[in-house]
Amino acid sequence: MSFSIDQFQLAGKVAIVTGAGGRGNSIGRAYAFGLANAGASVVVADINGEGAKLVADEIAAAGGKAISAQVDITKPESAAAMVKTAVDAFGGVDILVNNAALMAELGSLQAATISLDDWNRIFNVNLTGALICSQAVVPEMRKRGGGKIINQTSGGAFPAASVYGISKLALVGLTTTLARQLGREKINVNAIAPGNVTSDAGRALTPDDSPFIKFLEMSVAMRVRGAPDELVGSLLLLCSAAGDWITGQVLHVDGGWVLRP
Ligand SMILES: NC(=O)c1ccc[n+]([C@@H]2O[C@H](COP(=O)([O-])OP(=O)(O)OC[C@H]3O[C@@H](n4cnc5c(N)ncnc54)[C@H](O)[C@@H]3O)[C@@H](O)[C@H]2O)c1
Repeated sequence: MSFSIDQFQLAGKVAIVTGAGGRGNSIGRAYAFGLANAGASVVVADINGEGAKLVADEIAAAGGKAISAQVDITKPESAAAMVKTAVDAFGGVDILVNNAALMAELGSLQAATISLDDWNRIFNVNLTGALICSQAVVPEMRKRGGGKIINQTSGGAFPAASVYGISKLALVGLTTTLARQLGREKINVNAIAPGNVTSDAGRALTPDDSPFIKFLEMSVAMRVRGAPDELVGSLLLLCSAAGDWITGQVLHVDGGWVLRP
């Protein structure tokens, strides 16, 4: 079969995006809108149930198909309820975007002194949460004969020079392992590694006038930060039939920040 642009279409597909409802201008919100624009039915999931409902309502008002689910991704029973919401409303699950994470709220915790409570809290959300949600959707993907899982890692994982970076590097390991173990079942597992993004959380972490932003602008080949919408094209590639032969990869979307030969 020759290539058709229709391979990017997601009509008839059901997608869950975690962390899509917490803040006004978030990457998860851009992902949920992008998936709905491509034709998917979307479950907007977040620990902030009200925020998730706002985003789902916005998508529906714009003509897309979306519902919300309040979820705590660190709790298997909560992830199972999120998947049930998707199945009850839309008949199954084809796409999971593990986007929820702790980032802006972490500050600069030092590995040498971090309490085990903080360490466990970060890894519970940023790594184990993605595992829990993946375990919850895989049986549904098997019923559909395949699926796509996309883990939101970060340029901050390369090199991991913060506790947050360690959690995102571990998420890359989960990505390659799940890809290896699920590939024969036509479940693709990939990761997106954004650079510094001008979401509300990104701006809270690194304000526009911070020295880090000046340094970053010099280290990024294209000299610019990205908006949440600039990640959506890569997500659609990894979620759609256009990306059927891609698995176990990390796609860097960062204007040329993490450059690896
Ligand atoms: N903004 C950036 O510069 C940047 C760069 C690289 C990677 N990322 C990653 O992109 C993703 C989204 O980032 P963002 O900037 O939109 O941040 P954000 O804080 O707006 O999004 C994270 C979301 O996760 C939700 N969440 C937290 N704990 C949860 C839990 N236990 N269960 C369910 N939901 C939970 C929050 O409510 C929030 O809505 C994160 O994975 C982040 O690490 C962001």
